[in-house]
Amino acid sequence: MDTLQNAYDPEAFRALGYRVVDALADYLERARRGEGPVLPWTAPKDQAERFPADFPAKPAGGFEHLLKETLEHSTNLHHPHFVGHQVAAPLPLAALCDFAAAFLNNGMAVYEMGPAATAMEQAVVKWMCGRLGFPAGAGGILTSGGSPGNLTALLAARQVKAGFDAWEAGASGGPQLCALVSGEAHYCVKRAAQMMGWGKDGAWPVPVDAHFRMKADALPQAFAQAVAAGRKPIAVVANACSTSTGSFDPLEEIAAFCAERGLWLHADAAHGAPAILSPQYRGLLRGIERADSVVWDAHKMMLMPALATAVLFRDERNAYHAFAQHASYLFAEKKPEAEAHNLGTRTLECTKRMIGFKLYAALSVFGTDFFGAYVTRSFDLAKRFAETLKAAPDFELALEPEANIVCFRYAPKVAGADGRAFGAPTPEALDALQARIRRSVNERGTFYLVQTRLPAGLFLRAALMNPFITDAGLGELLDALRAAARTP
Ligand SMILES: Cc1ncc(COP(=O)(O)O)c(C=O)c1O
Repeated sequence: MDTLQNAYDPEAFRALGYRVVDALADYLERARRGEGPVLPWTAPKDQAERFPADFPAKPAGGFEHLLKETLEHSTNLHHPHFVGHQVAAPLPLAALCDFAAAFLNNGMAVYEMGPAATAMEQAVVKWMCGRLGFPAGAGGILTSGGSPGNLTALLAARQVKAGFDAWEAGASGGPQLCALVSGEAHYCVKRAAQMMGWGKDGAWPVPVDAHFRMKADALPQAFAQAVAAGRKPIAVVANACSTSTGSFDPLEEIAAFCAERGLWLHADAAHGAPAILSPQYRGLLRGIERADSVVWDAHKMMLMPALATAVLFRDERNAYHAFAQHASYLFAEKKPEAEAHNLGTRTLECTKRMIGFKLYAALSVFGTDFFGAYVTRSFDLAKRFAETLKAAPDFELALEPEANIVCFRYAPKVAGADGRAFGAPTPEALDALQARIRRSVNERGTFYLVQTRLPAGLFLRAALMNPFITDAGLGELLDALRAAARTP
């Protein structure tokens, strides 16, 4: 057999596949026991030396060694001490689906290139729309991430609300447009506005309250200011919830303003949408059923491997406005709505992964309550962690968490010789302390957490995504930070 045929040998694949799964199962077992570093910190330069570009000309084998190295030098999201960015510790079942999907490699732009995955995608989307409280006639698509998801929704908003054919004429074909957005929006929203040619003021700022929620009562003034600056506001982008602090914008009030002014309401619920599945926390999303579009990331709070984003429209017909283009070599019908099963008319991607498979599988196998319970657990844990922080004399909670994102800082009282507290460190020293202890804990590999800048200074930020984090583990996090502070 020649090398090409060998590379597809079913028996070799079977044998290697078993060994790969064994290695991953061992990895998961060790992670669940809390073994090994969370982040095996290595400087980028040293890492580059570990993975050099000196590829052999002839087959050399060695995949299992490479897998071992990859596991050893990757950030361990299944580790109970992973409290870093909002990325799920993937369900093993969902990871297996991704593996199978990669193998099948059905492209999804047209039904013929992914018949089963198209049906599963449409089922998952229908279920999500139903859970959000959207009416019959709602629909949407799955895409590769919240960033393209928000862009897709805003492209549709532009086409529906601009008052001119912005798709055909471009950004200069009518008045300068903008969306009203709080400064707490994920950076991809501003980026989407700039990609659409709206310039830096395309995301027109709306102030937030002390809890980093959009001030709905400031919308009329922001609208008037945008108009006075020669802009035509077409949409409001609400956070549900915000990335930095996990704050939910008041959707009902924002929806009322949008209805009054004829604006499109887009809810970036990349992180928070699954709260709708939790009887305890679904109230945070009150009003989301009035949004024109919603972005829902299943790779955040639904335990899916990246990427799995839904862009959902209250009126499915609007989904076709995002990319009002026709590619005759792909799509047979003139009217894309006539072929809803050809998903590529509504997504940025042409070839797309079989995103719906893993979600459909997990929903079918574990049931829908499983996900609501996960949200409830994670949000409850954050509330208890906040109580611990408030009770600790040497930590400061930035704000009461609404979701499972907790911002806090280490702020020990400095005691004078007589034992009385005197003065606080300067703001610069306090910021430097947070950065130092975060780096120290991360580099030791005991925990992985991130940081965020708030008006009061630099704060540590823990996203409690991992299903194995416990109250005791969070207590250990505080001890690790204290220890790092004591060690210069
Ligand atoms: C609210 C919000 N929107 C959008 C995004 C971007 O999503 P993605 O990383 O899937 O592109 C994030 C990521 O953290 C987010 O928190």
